[in-house]
Amino acid sequence: MKRIQLLFLPFLALGAEDFMSNYEYGQMLYNNPRGISCAKCHGEKGEGKFIGQYYKKDKKLKKIVLQEIHGARINDKTLKQIQDSVSKTHDVMPTYSLTDEETKAIYEYLQKIKNKS
Ligand code: HEC
Repeated sequence: MKRIQLLFLPFLALGAEDFMSNYEYGQMLYNNPRGISCAKCHGEKGEGKFIGQYYKKDKKLKKIVLQEIHGARINDKTLKQIQDSVSKTHDVMPTYSLTDEETKAIYEYLQKIKNKS
């Protein structure tokens, strides 16, 4: 019995390399890049999402107003737009240091998933 298991080991190791497809790689990155999910703020398919609201003092109006925060729709952005945005400093969105390859995987994932129901 032991012997048979050992025989299969090399095949298992070979299979592991192709274990993750590009799609799964992009999916993993989109849902958990550096521990902070794009999906939490931009929706499961990058369709955009309401994140939350808070009260703030409007200096011009001199009263308390309700401020809403929305994650923009991002599945219609170009790769360049996504690259620019993830490396920039925002008010709400974290700055990610993703490699070009990682950003591309996220972009391609969004292109594939956006029309899925
Ligand atoms: C904490 C919430 C949050 C997370 C997490 C987040 N974003 Fe954002 N993102 C925002 C908000 C809010 C904006 C609008 C600009 C702003 O105020 O920061 C934005 C803007 C963008 C834009 C520009 C949209 C436009 O209209 O031009 C892109 C592209 C983008 N995000 C992509 C991503 C990607 C890719 C990830 C994951 C790697 C991500 N974001 C993670 C909240 C988030």
